Amino acid sequence: MPNSTSDHRGQFIVFEGIDGSGKSTQVQLLADYLTLLGKKVFITREPSPGNIGQLIRKGLRKELVFTEATLAALFLADRIDHLEGQDGIWQMLEEGITVICDRYFWSSFSYHALGLPMEWVISIHQRIIDLYPPDITIFLDIDVETSMKRIGTRGEETELFENRTTLTKVRNNYLKVFEKYADDHHIEVIKADRTVDEIKADISALF
Ligand code: ADP
Ligand code: TYD
Repeated sequence: MPNSTSDHRGQFIVFEGIDGSGKSTQVQLLADYLTLLGKKVFITREPSPGNIGQLIRKGLRKELVFTEATLAALFLADRIDHLEGQDGIWQMLEEGITVICDRYFWSSFSYHALGLPMEWVISIHQRIIDLYPPDITIFLDIDVETSMKRIGTRGEETELFENRTTLTKVRNNYLKVFEKYADDHHIEVIKADRTVDEIKADISALF
């Protein structure tokens, strides 16, 4: 049940950052660290591995074309499914499992506000913001040039949002959103244009 207060509840940890900021790398390192501390940890990401998430991935790979509002709505539907579905995030937290999620609603606010009013994107999420706030959000802040270099070394096709102009706007949106929510949410901004080990040390120190 949402907003449960059970004391064995797992911690809900969210990573955010523009594409190539190092989220997947640091998610795995934090999971390893928390596992060493004796916690049961589950790693997940959005778009989720579920049916709606797979449909979204086709849009990101440009195999399907969605309007901006359709894509924003698909991400919301995917998120609800990811949270409330069977074996979803909420059930795991209730079972005492620490859940680390690579991207969450902050991504929607920052990416979909590129072409839609940010207030609309936030408003369709209000129920999720109220019922399922992350316990901590770790924002890996990196300059766009560095992230583009990292994306380039991946050797894969670039996805929908992976270009300089877009990622610059997305980063600005993130900073705006985090300022807006700074009083109500635990948000940690970590400088991410450093070595993997330096970033890892700062993140581990939060737990
Ligand atoms: P994201 O999940 O945010 O897209 P990744 O963790 O997949 O980012 O990292 C993108 C690329 O950059 C990968 O090739 C990864 O090995 C590399 N990388 C991650 N962190 C760093 C770092 N601190 N310094 C240099 N390269 C990094
Ligand atoms: P992914 O490959 O997971 O990102 P990364 O390159 O950071 O590892 O791709 C997810 C893409 O989807 C990324 O460009 C951000 C975008 N996105 C949205 O537009 N809205 C959302 O709500 C989420 C969660 C992601």
